[in-house]
Amino acid sequence: MAQNPVRVLVTGAAGQIGYALVPMIARGVLLGPNQPVILHMLDIPPAAESLNGVKMELVDAAFPLLKGVVATTDVVEACTGVNIAIMVGGFPRKEGMERKDVMSKNVSIYKAQASALEKHAAANCKVLVVANPANTNALILKEFAPSIPEKNISCLTRLDHNRALGQISERLNVHVSEIKNVIIWGNHSSTQYPDVNHATVKLPSGEEKSVRELVADDAWLNGEFISTVQQRGAAIIKARKFSSALSAASAACDHIRDWVLGTPEGTWVSMGVYSDGSYNVPAGLIYSFPVTCQNGEWSIVQGLSVDEFSRKKLDLTAEELTEEKALAYSCLS
Ligand code: NAD
Ligand code: LMR
Repeated sequence: MAQNPVRVLVTGAAGQIGYALVPMIARGVLLGPNQPVILHMLDIPPAAESLNGVKMELVDAAFPLLKGVVATTDVVEACTGVNIAIMVGGFPRKEGMERKDVMSKNVSIYKAQASALEKHAAANCKVLVVANPANTNALILKEFAPSIPEKNISCLTRLDHNRALGQISERLNVHVSEIKNVIIWGNHSSTQYPDVNHATVKLPSGEEKSVRELVADDAWLNGEFISTVQQRGAAIIKARKFSSALSAASAACDHIRDWVLGTPEGTWVSMGVYSDGSYNVPAGLIYSFPVTCQNGEWSIVQGLSVDEFSRKKLDLTAEELTEEKALAYSCLS
């Protein structure tokens, strides 16, 4: 029997990530090759014509799984009945703008969209915030949508997770699919901590070996590797003059797919989720943890050892998030 279509909201759909993301969703990358979808695309009035152009292209692409497209600048119409919300829309930092100015614009957007989602989305809607500052936008969304369960609100750090896999893959000359269990802890910012202490590689013999043992260069793993992953977003902007889009769209699909369909046995991924105090991360932040997903729910992987070097890095990125949270609230007051 044909499955009912899932309604997927993409905000900021006329932007760069939106343009890369909507065809992936329509092609089945998000929810698998048998799941029909209806796309809800939201942008702001100045982008309405461009958004309509994206809708025209979706029609022209004749995607078999795409059962409908809603393209709108009305947040209520966009949010109505959605099962999954991917929040990409936001205000970019412009020349001369202070961090606080960007924060102020974005937290106001996320406060308003929280209410629309709370009132109009389908019950049990899963929310992924991509727009920066991703962790803090997600936190504001959570705070102003109190009836959406906190376990349904997340932010994207899968791009950072994938970047870490990519760096290890290049260094060891092994395919990314053979590497697992890297971790991104904390904020989607340059204080994030890419951690390989529990990561392994599957060798052609079938044996699993630790990444640390195979790389055999702690100075690189504790230095250049970490800073390369932390700074990768900035490096892409320098190279492309625009921020990462195809890799961000692909990571957003990975995040939702694993959340809905489950993570493979023995493998975890990184997701920005509401901290319950695990690993002594202050409760009440949206913080990236290693998680496994089953039956549409994530759970934080427990019991991993955290050495002194890592502890400092986990705390540093938590401190930044605590400061961002205070700044966000000061912008809203
Ligand atoms: P973009 O500027 O190309 O697109 C953003 C879109 O959002 C624009 O079309 C804009 O009109 C729209 N928009 C602005 N305000 C809106 C609102 N109130 N409601 C709906 N739409 C609105 O930017 P992009 O390159 O697509 O990036 C989008 C966001 O994602 C940025 O904040 C960027 O920093 C962030 N990002 C996050 C990650 C991550 O890993 N978390 C990675 C890359 C980019
Ligand atoms: C990225 O990680 O590529 C982006 O978050 C960078 C940015 O500042 O938009």
